[in-house]
Amino acid sequence: MSHIKTELSDGILSIRFARADKKNAITQAMYGDLARAVVAGQDDPGVRVIVFGAEGDSFSAGNDIGDFASIAMSGTRPTDMAVFDFLKSLAYLDKPAVAAVRGRAVGIGLTLLLHCDLVVVAEDALLSTPFVNLALAPEAASTLLLPMAVGHQRAFELFALGEPIDGRTAHAWGLANRCVASAEVDAEARRLAGLLARRAPGSLAGTKRLMRDAERLWALMQAEGEVFGAQMLSPEAREAFTAFFEKRAPNFG
Ligand code: COA
Repeated sequence: MSHIKTELSDGILSIRFARADKKNAITQAMYGDLARAVVAGQDDPGVRVIVFGAEGDSFSAGNDIGDFASIAMSGTRPTDMAVFDFLKSLAYLDKPAVAAVRGRAVGIGLTLLLHCDLVVVAEDALLSTPFVNLALAPEAASTLLLPMAVGHQRAFELFALGEPIDGRTAHAWGLANRCVASAEVDAEARRLAGLLARRAPGSLAGTKRLMRDAERLWALMQAEGEVFGAQMLSPEAREAFTAFFEKRAPNFG
């Protein structure tokens, strides 16, 4: 059963995380499904807008940490991970993307928002990028896009201390267009997507292409991936993954 659900109606392609029991943590199989869904959306003239959303109480708890641990042990080159197919699809997406964020948005659950053009957050959502807590490194071109959005110091604190900010703060910092009650997030995202779906598609795509340098973003994603991959195989990351599943704080010595 796929943990990614897609549905197309009125020109709006909805892509939803559907692994609520694991807080929508994303496995490599899910990244593969996400990449295929985004590329199909990009190629299908019937798709005017993509909306990322989620089932359950969390947008996404980020990368599946068990997956990381098994990739680190399997000898697979980290840069061959399916996550890079998804990241590439985001870098080159020139159709508008909207995100509907309730509950937790961790790691790529937040960095994905940097590739969305309109973001709706719940007031009580909790967003974090605890890459350093996991002895990893930022991804998804967030080393460029997060400081651009919120400034160096705030971005560094998010990366290095990994503490969450709530939806109101995310909105105040410029990470979201709208901040609404949790129950209204999906409807507001759908309303905004409906507006975009009625705009001139060529003009929207041209605007988005001019605002984002896809080649540069993809190059940066790959450069980040080298550091991320090296960290994934490190003893400090092994300690962080083990600590997560043992429900204790990591000991980095
Ligand atoms: N990878 C793998 N499993 C995860 C996960 C992840 N990123 N996030 C949550 N889960 C699993 C938990 O292990 C738990 O599984 P179990 O029921 O089999 O024990 C289940 O999802 C529910 O999570 P739990 O931690 O009990 O929920 P919570 O409400 O107390 O906390 C989070 C939610 C998101 C704050 C917490 O799960 C968390 O910190 N997850 C890790 C986030 C992270 O560091 N992601 C990687 C970023 S690069």
